Amino acid sequence: GAYEIISMDNSFHGRTLATTAATGQPAYQATWAPIPDGFKQVPFNDLEAVKQATSEKTIAILVEPVQGEGGIWPASKEFMQGLRAWCDEQNLLLISDEVQAGMGRTGKFFSWENFGARPDIITMAKGLAGGVPIGAMLAGPRADIFAPGDHGTTFGGNPIACAAGIATISTIIEQNLLENARTIGDYWGSKLEVFCEQYDFLDSPRGIGLMRAVNVKNDLAFVIVEKAREHGLLLNNLGTKTLRMIPPLILTKADVDEATELLDQALADVAKLQ
Ligand SMILES: Cc1ncc(COP(=O)(O)O)c(C=O)c1O
Repeated sequence: GAYEIISMDNSFHGRTLATTAATGQPAYQATWAPIPDGFKQVPFNDLEAVKQATSEKTIAILVEPVQGEGGIWPASKEFMQGLRAWCDEQNLLLISDEVQAGMGRTGKFFSWENFGARPDIITMAKGLAGGVPIGAMLAGPRADIFAPGDHGTTFGGNPIACAAGIATISTIIEQNLLENARTIGDYWGSKLEVFCEQYDFLDSPRGIGLMRAVNVKNDLAFVIVEKAREHGLLLNNLGTKTLRMIPPLILTKADVDEATELLDQALADVAKLQ
């Protein structure tokens, strides 16, 4: 039978053995070799490569509609819709890893909604319970093969995590946080564009909603993170060349204005070091 899953270069799907094998970044795999068979990576946003990698062994295509750990790189609409059409044509399952980009972060509840390509399976975690550890998977009609008890873990389905998940989803809906992620995300994005014009060591501002990143020249990402921390702003670096910003969905315009001021001070400090 078919068992192979095609995933993308530069993707990140987790740190269990199977998800390490699905992850398209060799650095996450080396420690755990030999990793499980059955995963094949192709270049992101390259539908032709997906088609060429498909064989009689292929069962599914796994994608982050916005690559998170890889540097906040959104898929193209054509790619996502092309994947959906290819899965329909070849009778494959489309799996959307929404662990980082889901739960409202991109201004839609699931990031695939930005691209109009409905998956058959969705994975969720991170923001799903507002910080309380939880993970979940949704399977639609084409993958509806699970019966209660097929899968479990020691702490799986525990009432505290589930209550936190329900409270989080209710809050996202009641406080209109999808809309907030869109408008405040665009506002923050416009600030990042200005920073990229102002500081020659920053470029490529990008992202959707409250999921943003910029490229950093001269391996300065960590230096900027440290300087920002000194000024009272928490940022995140991905390696030495990318700054990632995935702030809480309740972020306000006033928060962005304050963060803009603090980041400007930190960047000015870094510019002086050049
Ligand atoms: C897209 C994506 N999938 C899955 C995971 C889960 O990773 P882990 O197994 O480390 O919790 C992450 C964590 O960063 C992620 O960003």
